[in-house]
Amino acid sequence: MKKGLKGLIVTSLLVGVLAAGCSNSQAPSGASAGKPVVGVAIYKFDDTFMTGVRNAISKFAEGKATVEIVDSQNSQSTQNDKVDLFITKKVNALAINPVDRTAAGVIIDKAKKANTPVVFFNREPLPEDMKKWDKVYYVGAKAEESGTISGQLIVDYLKAHPEADKNKDGVLQYVMLKGEPGHQDAELRTKYSIKALEDAGIKVQKLAEDTAMWDRVKGQEKMAAFLAAHGDSIEAVFANNDDMALGAIEALKAKGYFKDGKYIPVVGVDATAPALKALEEGTMLGTVLNDAVNQGKATINIATVLAQGQTPTKENTGFTLTDDKYVWVPYKKITRENMNDAK
Ligand code: GAL
Repeated sequence: MKKGLKGLIVTSLLVGVLAAGCSNSQAPSGASAGKPVVGVAIYKFDDTFMTGVRNAISKFAEGKATVEIVDSQNSQSTQNDKVDLFITKKVNALAINPVDRTAAGVIIDKAKKANTPVVFFNREPLPEDMKKWDKVYYVGAKAEESGTISGQLIVDYLKAHPEADKNKDGVLQYVMLKGEPGHQDAELRTKYSIKALEDAGIKVQKLAEDTAMWDRVKGQEKMAAFLAAHGDSIEAVFANNDDMALGAIEALKAKGYFKDGKYIPVVGVDATAPALKALEEGTMLGTVLNDAVNQGKATINIATVLAQGQTPTKENTGFTLTDDKYVWVPYKKITRENMNDAK
């Protein structure tokens, strides 16, 4: 008798827990308010540029969609778990910033099975994955364009400052701080920045190249190592993003640069607030506006339209769709002269 009562209590407790879990998973927050729900996964919250994109997504969702934004903590398996959870909760659309862009195919398979449309952003899935389903979209920027612009910043500088060729050998000795290997922005910015110099007829010599994984502290460490190995023979510093450029500037400051006439051109990409401050101070030569606001806006606009069961068009999203599934947000060259354009 006693045992039976205990069993009954345990069973009813279990039923209660399961029911709570179930109702929680089937009615995503916001659905009750009549707005579509978009599940957003960022590759990691601890990334300066992606924080800008995340804030834009929240801002432009206001009044039209409920967004649930999660941190994938730079782990693809964590992100896959978060996607599973979103699908169980029956969100109306997904917006995914993949940790590993080659893992997008797995996410597309899950989304397709649940008929949940998905917008990828910032990390471009491989073309064959993008073709897996018609409810798959991508919002980003043409990586080669940002590479070309950062190369042009150095070309402009060399034209105005022939003394930048410190050893007067007619060759620009440079170092390269690369973002995460395999990321389209890291690979193409590295390639096209140097191509822009060569296309302008400038001879180049790479003294060193290493990844600093988009990170400011790692940028400082790698630059310190480059300086230890090559000292003042370095004539220009390329960084695939502003955080790494700012780290490099710290390492250069420690070696006496940016005072008493000791200068070296450093370029980055993103035009983050700390980078604009460095432009103002004269430590960073230039950067490239990576438009977090419009990338976030396009992502949430497309996801909202999809979440409502419609097909995204220029009219209902405000953005031109190339090949019916890509939105390309333009980059812009930023120097001290036009830095207000990036604010
Ligand atoms: C790039 C950006 C980097 C970093 C990276 C993350 O577009 O320039 O700073 O945020 O995306 O995927």
